[in-house]
Amino acid sequence: MRKLTVAIDGPAGAGKSSAARLVAGRLQYLYIDTGAMYRAFTWAMIRKKVDIHDSQAVQTLADTIDIRLEPLADQCRVFVNNQEVTEAIRTKNISSCVSSVAALAVVREKLVQLQRTMAEEGGVILDGRDIGTVVLPNADVKIFLTASVASRAKRRFLEMQAKGSTDTLDDIARSIAARDDMDSHRAVSPLRRADDAILLDNSELNLEQTADAIMDLILKKGR
Ligand code: DC
Repeated sequence: MRKLTVAIDGPAGAGKSSAARLVAGRLQYLYIDTGAMYRAFTWAMIRKKVDIHDSQAVQTLADTIDIRLEPLADQCRVFVNNQEVTEAIRTKNISSCVSSVAALAVVREKLVQLQRTMAEEGGVILDGRDIGTVVLPNADVKIFLTASVASRAKRRFLEMQAKGSTDTLDDIARSIAARDDMDSHRAVSPLRRADDAILLDNSELNLEQTADAIMDLILKKGR
């Protein structure tokens, strides 16, 4: 099969990264977690105490930062200037700051360019919010993966509970809805379904079923 470029966009908690990782493993494709790149930039802003309103400082950071993704088995290791931040970018603090950082045009310009370079060779699955609309408008397969707020909140709740979190289902549903709102209403590259993206609602599907549905769509295109 020809090596395709696959774009998976959708809101937070729809299970994009888990499904994309599974599918990439099955096809021996490279999985590129673009959300992790925005998280890595946010981590660097906090680490270097860059004020989000100081556009010169944000520009300088964008000009000098080195963000690298390294695929490892079924996960994607993340490095900022050679320091591994794979775990550090998953904290609550980063999750609550990242939407504001991802709304900055300077940051998006830098990361979109990096994502296009990484996708150049094909055989890649990128997941994010603007892959089908901005990063790879000519992607071979475009999927908009979504699920109801209630089912996304329930999944995240079970995941967080397993990690010992005491957040309630309501707290999580509220934070998912807030993130949806920010990501969909920002001025630069808001989250939206590309006109030619296939809508896949996985509210009633588990991870395996979601991955199977994505595989079907890719195989149809690859033939
Ligand atoms: O997928 P995630 O939750 O790790 O993404 C983190 C944040 O980055 C999220 O608020 C949306 C933003 N993001 C984006 O704006 N564009 C992308 N291509 C990927 C993520």
